[in-house]
Amino acid sequence: MKDILARLDERREQARLGGGQKRIDAQHAKGKLTARERIEMLLDRDSFEEFDMFVQHRCTDFGMEQEHVPGDGVVTGWGTVNGRTVYVFAKDFTVFGGSLSEEHAKKITKIQDMAIKNRAPIVGLFDAGGARIQEGVAALGGYGEVFQRNVLASGVIPQISVIMGPCAGGDVYSPAMTDFIFMVRETSYMFVTGPDVVKTVTNETVTAEELGGAHVHTTRSSIADRAYENDVEALLQMRRLIDFLPASNLETPPRLPSFDDPDRIDLSLDTLVPDNPNKPYDIKELINKIADEGDFFEIQETHARNIVIGFARIEGTTVGVVANQPLALAGVLDSDASRKAARFVRFCDCFNVPIVTFVDVPGFLPGTAQEYGGLIKHGAKLLFAYAEATVPKVTVITRKAFGGAYDVMASKHLRGDINLAWPTAQIAVMGAKGAVEIIYRRELGDAQKIAQRTKEYEDRFLSPFVAAERGYIDEVIMPHATRKRLSRVLAMLRNKKLENPWKKHDNIPL
Ligand code: HXC
Repeated sequence: MKDILARLDERREQARLGGGQKRIDAQHAKGKLTARERIEMLLDRDSFEEFDMFVQHRCTDFGMEQEHVPGDGVVTGWGTVNGRTVYVFAKDFTVFGGSLSEEHAKKITKIQDMAIKNRAPIVGLFDAGGARIQEGVAALGGYGEVFQRNVLASGVIPQISVIMGPCAGGDVYSPAMTDFIFMVRETSYMFVTGPDVVKTVTNETVTAEELGGAHVHTTRSSIADRAYENDVEALLQMRRLIDFLPASNLETPPRLPSFDDPDRIDLSLDTLVPDNPNKPYDIKELINKIADEGDFFEIQETHARNIVIGFARIEGTTVGVVANQPLALAGVLDSDASRKAARFVRFCDCFNVPIVTFVDVPGFLPGTAQEYGGLIKHGAKLLFAYAEATVPKVTVITRKAFGGAYDVMASKHLRGDINLAWPTAQIAVMGAKGAVEIIYRRELGDAQKIAQRTKEYEDRFLSPFVAAERGYIDEVIMPHATRKRLSRVLAMLRNKKLENPWKKHDNIPL
């Protein structure tokens, strides 16, 4: 009997070595952890239960029948993050570069099926070169199975991808269909095909970093939602993110104990908006001041900085925050900002996360670059996302809410539940200068008259009261009481039930 038990230990030990000590050392030398080390870092201590440790590939081409590594390049299973169940798979780069074989795919789809059936988040840790070349179409078929489940899981359970090494092919397309992608600086890359193929096909010479490094994907392409300095930081931040998220679309977000008084007032907010309407201020100051313990998990911090999105808690419960950022492009809505916020609003709506929107927006960005780039369609995405969302929607207008952007930013007309405004709010079709130049065009030569018209316009329209008179604003509130007001209305909206008319699915302007 003892022998049998020892044999199991031996087989486990062998499986845990993956592609061997030499490749593990190479992994460490690059500053990367191994697949199992990563899982240990992500999950609660000793909570990981591994499946399919002894699975092997069945390929017999290219001499593969001689090369078998138990586990076949991916470690899969489940565990807990702060006590809550999470399914996980981690690509093992030390085994055939983490590439996906038919059997490797089956390990992942088993975990995906379990996560969907048992309604818990799934985290994929990627460090892999895509389909296993030696297996050909069997590997492609395997990826197809993974992709199909990514889509079925979308909107049912949170799917999180962390890119922790060079990733290509299916190892970027599968993450692309998940809710969030995070990267590690200088050790992770994402591209459909690597620099060598690029050189052959397009004759471009690029480094892996230039083609698909964390900087590119968190600033230009917006494929990645955030980047971290190293594996450890990335994995610890994933634990923090998971704490914000509900386990599935059937649950409300977790409620964490908070020691921050929900009625806390903050007098500094009364002077946050400068007297000069053209002077910027940092909207993150407001977000940090209304959030429990000032804890804000920002998504896509370095892309489209003119809009800020992320998760915070109020009275212990998660809210999704969307806020125009006057510090960047005066908080204007452009194509990138609209796409960024639209996707986030849809995530929140899928997973019953109430949305708090802070508005200070001078309008949509004019110009050929934006129009040629499809601003109409991208702006419509945000409009569509807010309009279809049925979760509690609370809006606070701090300053400008001009033109179409007023409508878009969770206005009353898009079923905003509670729409609040600070006394500094200016809700109008446009700013005074632009308005006067259009409606008093014939008086433009007379500076005195124009100044008087501008003053009249400012007095009448650049306030929250015209909107409040119509009930488009439910209440004009003191800035210092914003957290208290939000806590109260979010509690009031906790049992909100709203359903859209039945449909197979909508047709958001993609
Ligand atoms: C089999 C692979 C592999 C693959 C890497 N390896 N990718 N084995 N199939 N796809 C193996 C290597 O042979 C090597 O084995 C080990 O993994 C490490 O790879 P290196 O190239 O030495 O590492 P590095 O220089 O860091 O480069 C990593 C890489 C590169 C950028 C991922 O290996 C690469 O470009 N691989 C191919 C990527 C690719 O084109 N994949 C197919 C995509 S098609 P040894 O034994 O030397 O350690 C696809 C279809 C899905 O995925 C459908 C999409 C819609």
